Amino acid sequence: MANKTYKIAVLPGDGTGPEVIAEGVKVLKAAAKKFNFDLEFDTYDWGGERYLRTGNVLPDDACDILRNYHAIYLGAIGHPQVKPGILEKGILLKLRFGLDQYINLRPIKLFPGVESPLAGKTAEDIDYVVVRENSGDVYTGLGGSAMTGTADEVCVQNMVYTRHQVDRCLRFAFELAKKRHSKENPWRGLSEEDKQKGYTAQLTMCGKSNVLTYVFDMWDRAIAEMSKEYPMVKTAYCHVDATCMWMVKSPEWFDVIVTTNMFGDIITDLAAITSGGMGISAGGNLNPEGVSMFEPIGGSAPKYTGKNVINPCAAILAGAMMLEYLGEKEAGKAIENAVAFCTEHKLKSLSAGKMGYSTTEVGDLVAENL
Ligand code: IPM
Ligand code: MN
Repeated sequence: MANKTYKIAVLPGDGTGPEVIAEGVKVLKAAAKKFNFDLEFDTYDWGGERYLRTGNVLPDDACDILRNYHAIYLGAIGHPQVKPGILEKGILLKLRFGLDQYINLRPIKLFPGVESPLAGKTAEDIDYVVVRENSGDVYTGLGGSAMTGTADEVCVQNMVYTRHQVDRCLRFAFELAKKRHSKENPWRGLSEEDKQKGYTAQLTMCGKSNVLTYVFDMWDRAIAEMSKEYPMVKTAYCHVDATCMWMVKSPEWFDVIVTTNMFGDIITDLAAITSGGMGISAGGNLNPEGVSMFEPIGGSAPKYTGKNVINPCAAILAGAMMLEYLGEKEAGKAIENAVAFCTEHKLKSLSAGKMGYSTTEVGDLVAENL
């Protein structure tokens, strides 16, 4: 029987994006060989350079083109010569919205050998997942301004949520919590009493129900209703400000966190730094019914461009996540384990220029240790 073939659209993007994506592709190819499937890559040059050259941010039919692929592999968007907002809104957010990638999944995991800036916390303590709603909130762009430049200038940017957006996000989060843990392997933060009650996992809603009363009242009701279908998932609630505090003080309390788009953006940067930073943090923009896009969550780090010093692990892990979502779970896990081997035994640091290896050497190391 012929191998399964996956078509991947590659968007290396700006700055160091192409360098880290090249290493990711190297590792993906090695994994495909080892686990007997085929990958076909098509590269698109959408990003800051192309915009400066042509004045065009993204082709009009970009989403239609991307719908022909099994997945999208993205480097980084952001160029120092382009005004903030143009590329972010014109490419990244346009694709997330256009392809209705309504979940932004960001696993937070302290890899072995990596030192957390949180004193005394080890790999045991930092291993949770943030489910960031990715289609609503202030990101919809609903709002406007008037009387600009006068003393009466007024600006409004609305936090928007529909019940449909809330329900589909919660459905994903509950399913994930249910799958992440089982009776045999319950979430380590549960008390004996919780386990007696049949709980195996925990889902924490991160919100701000004491101020944003309309929006979070809707989320609260939706969670309460849906939780009846998931007797094994213990639900909890934490305000976003308190979530930040507990993520630093007691990260071992978290299993799956579900949150709104803006809060999710903010808390995942904090979460990323607690687990070693942008060099190792990957995320997936998921449309479980459509085409998903996988990316390192850091930026384009333009000052390191072309120096072969940036850490490609985040991009490599984004590739692993992509394989997992394509159904090649074993291959995805093997890449994750190879990265863990490197963090434990090889890399001196996760920071650019301090790893003890170049960008390409780290890619080689991971590929060799699959
Ligand atoms: C992220 C980024 C984006 C976001 C920006 C670049 C639009 O910060 O992926 O977290 O806010 O979602
Ligand atoms: Mn962000």
